[in-house]
Formats: sequence, C-alpha cells, structure tokens
Amino acid sequence: MNADIKKWLEKGGELFLRKIGLKEEQTVLDFGSGVGHYTIPAAKIVGNKSKVYAFDKDKNVLSELEKTARRFNLKNIELINGDTKVSLEENSIDVVLCYDVVHYMKNRTSIYDEAYRVLKAGGFFSLYPKHHKDDYPLMELASLQLGTVIKEVEKSGFILKDKLSIECLHDDYYNECSILNFTLL
Ligand SMILES: C[S@@+](CC[C@H](N)C(=O)[O-])C[C@H]1O[C@@H](n2cnc3c(N)ncnc32)[C@H](O)[C@@H]1O
Repeated sequence: MNADIKKWLEKGGELFLRKIGLKEEQTVLDFGSGVGHYTIPAAKIVGNKSKVYAFDKDKNVLSELEKTARRFNLKNIELINGDTKVSLEENSIDVVLCYDVVHYMKNRTSIYDEAYRVLKAGGFFSLYPKHHKDDYPLMELASLQLGTVIKEVEKSGFILKDKLSIECLHDDYYNECSILNFTLL
C-alpha cells in the first residue's frame, strides 16, 4: 500500500468525509465504491449502529474491499454487486457518495435518479465529478464544464447545497477536488 493510501485510510479519509458533512449513525451508499477508499472511512464515522453499502459492478474490487474491511475490523459494510440499479429501498439512505464514477457513464441521469430514489428527505448526494473539462478531462465528462454537470444533476430533482474545493484521494494520490453536495428539491 502506498503512503498516500495508508495516510488516507488511517485518518485522512475520515477528516475529509467529516468536512463534507458525514456524521455518526448516518446510513451511506457508496455508489461505485471501487476498492473502498471512501467506504472504509465512512464506515468508521457512522459506527456500528449504522451501515455503509458499497455498490459496484466489479466483483473483484468488492472482494478487495472485503479484505480491507476485515483488516480494519469493520463489520458495518454491506457489499452490493450490480450495475446502476441498487437493490435498496427508496427513502432508506442519508448520504449517497458518488466519487470518480460518472465519467464512465453516457447516461448519467440513471445514476442521479437512483441516488434520488434511495435518499431520505433531509439526506444529501455528494458527487465528485472527476475528469470534467477543467480537471484532467476524460471519457464522457471530457467536454463538460462543472457548471454543466451541476445543471444535469439538478434536472433529476436536486439542488446544489455546497461546492467544496478540498484535498481528496484520487486512485492512489492526493489531489485538489471539487465536491458537489446536493439536497432534494
Ligand atoms: C475510478 S473507480 C472510483 C472508486 C471510488 N469511488 C473512489 O473514488 O476511490 C470507479 C468505480 O465505479 C464503478 N462503476 C462505474 N460505473 C458503474 C455503474 N454504472 N454501476 C456500478 N458501478 C459502477 C467501477 O466498477 C469502479 O470500481
């Protein structure tokens, strides 16, 4: 494990998630969790009275995540393997994290609609749209500015509550990122 990932999993990730508004006992969906760089610190924050659902279409990353959860002795993570549609009840989640995922998707509305469906009133959707036009442009976000991404999310019934410029982990290194927190309209 490289030094940035180690630092992040030990403390940095928790500090970051507290800054974006995650609190004890909240229920979290980590949409496109990957190996769990956000799932692990989220599970530490919400504690054993609550749960973090790690959702990903790739079974291999979920098994990596399972090993890391065991190493940190975390028992409040539930893995869900699937593509876009999450097997969770509507109005069941306090916070949906969707970090470094939407650039893969042409039909991003399907992710925003799913986040909207599972969120409770009073919950929030936290999006890190890495790889837009002004942040290492790539794939489906390459030609879109952040303002355009905000507008497309708002079309699914959200309203932008906070826009934070903050250091976060991307893959295996720290970088400055724009985090968009949306609430339900
Ligand atoms: C670049 S990784 C980011 C992982 C993690 N969120 C992070 O920031 O460290 C993107 C992940 O999203 C998953 N993914 C992409 N599109 C998805 C979809 N439609 N449904 C479920 N998972 C998806 C991929 O399998 C991959 O593990």
